[in-house]
Amino acid sequence: MNTVKTVLELRAAVARARGEGKRIAFVPTMGNLHEGHVALVEKAGQRADFVVASIFVNPLQFGPNEDLAKYPRTLAADQDKLVAAGCHLLFHPDVEEMYPHGQEGQTRVGVPGVSEGLCGASRPGHFEGVATVVTKLFNMVQPDLAVFGEKDFQQLAVIRTLVRDLNMPVQIIGEPTVRAEDGLALSSRNGYLSTEQRAQAPALHRTLQQLAEAIRNGDRQFAQLIERGQASLASAGFRPDYLEIREALSLRPAQADDTQLVILGAAFMGNTRLIDNLTLEL
Ligand code: PAF
Repeated sequence: MNTVKTVLELRAAVARARGEGKRIAFVPTMGNLHEGHVALVEKAGQRADFVVASIFVNPLQFGPNEDLAKYPRTLAADQDKLVAAGCHLLFHPDVEEMYPHGQEGQTRVGVPGVSEGLCGASRPGHFEGVATVVTKLFNMVQPDLAVFGEKDFQQLAVIRTLVRDLNMPVQIIGEPTVRAEDGLALSSRNGYLSTEQRAQAPALHRTLQQLAEAIRNGDRQFAQLIERGQASLASAGFRPDYLEIREALSLRPAQADDTQLVILGAAFMGNTRLIDNLTLEL
């Protein structure tokens, strides 16, 4: 696997692969890779001949009080994991390469509707930062397809909408969340948890499962279900950020006769904000 730091080198390497008739897959990441990322790269390898990954901790998608500075940077270990997963090319630009004219006046991409509410409400500007960097990365790599994790359910909806609305010729593939044995969704931020917090953290997934079970059993009193869910999160030591039941395709608030639902939760364990979701077909 070759690691390149500039757009020029990236474009040359992708052009070579294209010249050989290869189909290009892309997996954008912020590094600190875990098995969830590995699954994305492996899926990319099943769908294409040449897999490009990126590692870039994108400052544009972090709020002023968020964890940009302490976000783990683990390049050497990440490179080993990418090689083992079958990645062919790693793009690892620095901030100046991605934003050579600074971040202030940078053209930004907004995706109204799906970006609003949920994480969009708790993290103002976050999805604009994500949509902007993903647009730039897509223009740099020009992949045939790109793979994203379903753990960031709203992010995936934002990217699908972005690609549809701006006619980007990229197929978007969602890959199911990879979980630890106790159900906790794998996330780079799990590394911030103390041993005790880590032991409590699966309660987020358990709460989503309890809500899903109640809905499957016919309960459609969504407001009451959410109240119960919030209480169960709080009793497990979480400070709930949001817990919502939405229609899975549009992300609008769920109605009693919807058949495709998603339950989305975000909650703080200490200072660490964890997110998770569960989809339900009724
Ligand atoms: O999901 C992530 O890791 C990031 O939001 C992404 C898509 C790589 C954009 O920076």
